[in-house]
Amino acid sequence: MLLSFEGLDFCGKSTQIRLLESWMNSRGDGRAVLCVREPGGTHISERVRDVLLDPRHEEMSEVAELFLFSAARAQLVRQLIIPALQHGENVVCDRYHDSTTAYQGYGRGIDIETITRINQLATAGVMPDATVYLDITPKESYRRRALRLNLGTADAPEARSPEDDRMEQSGIAFYARVREGYLAIARAEPERFHVIDGTQTVESIAEEIRAVVSALNLRIEKAGKNT
Ligand code: TYD
Repeated sequence: MLLSFEGLDFCGKSTQIRLLESWMNSRGDGRAVLCVREPGGTHISERVRDVLLDPRHEEMSEVAELFLFSAARAQLVRQLIIPALQHGENVVCDRYHDSTTAYQGYGRGIDIETITRINQLATAGVMPDATVYLDITPKESYRRRALRLNLGTADAPEARSPEDDRMEQSGIAFYARVREGYLAIARAEPERFHVIDGTQTVESIAEEIRAVVSALNLRIEKAGKNT
């Protein structure tokens, strides 16, 4: 199965992916779990990541950004994800095509039809069986960022830090559009796209995610028996 995780920066994805990975490994179903992050995961995709996130690249055009995220994904899908799925492994992606729809489509304003076609090409049509979206507001994202970076700037949430990557310099209005994008995907694809309140405790979120994965497992097993 292919699972993807989505959400605004600082939504808590990495913690939850770590917890899910160890839970999946402890179930002992004999299936390896491959966890990959986007952009990245292969030598080429990690190099593209460096170009994308380098804060010095302020001049990057929105279309170049779209193609670079998609290039990183195209390589990852063909080099790692498809072979892993063919071997019966479970694949967990820290971000996938929905990030492009939300960030480059809704956030940057590139038209969604174009994004959908490019997503289709980049992923070779390999779509997640389920997606976990950890929902936090842009305000919460900025609050966590300030805590993490020790900015102590509740009253100046957009204060820049030298540790910000290029995407993180985009401003709170950008993140509001990205969140709207995610919520629009949730309305369009409620079966696949699971919205989980990212302000709950780590353990409650982990429990909800395990329920999503268990239900998906059952569905896949059933479908296997009926064919
Ligand atoms: P990263 O440091 O991996 O952030 P996070 O831990 O939040 O995933 O940086 C990835 C950044 O790239 C993040 O701001 C989201 C953005 N992004 C896009 O804009 N489009 C995409 O297609 C992907 C995969 C990521």
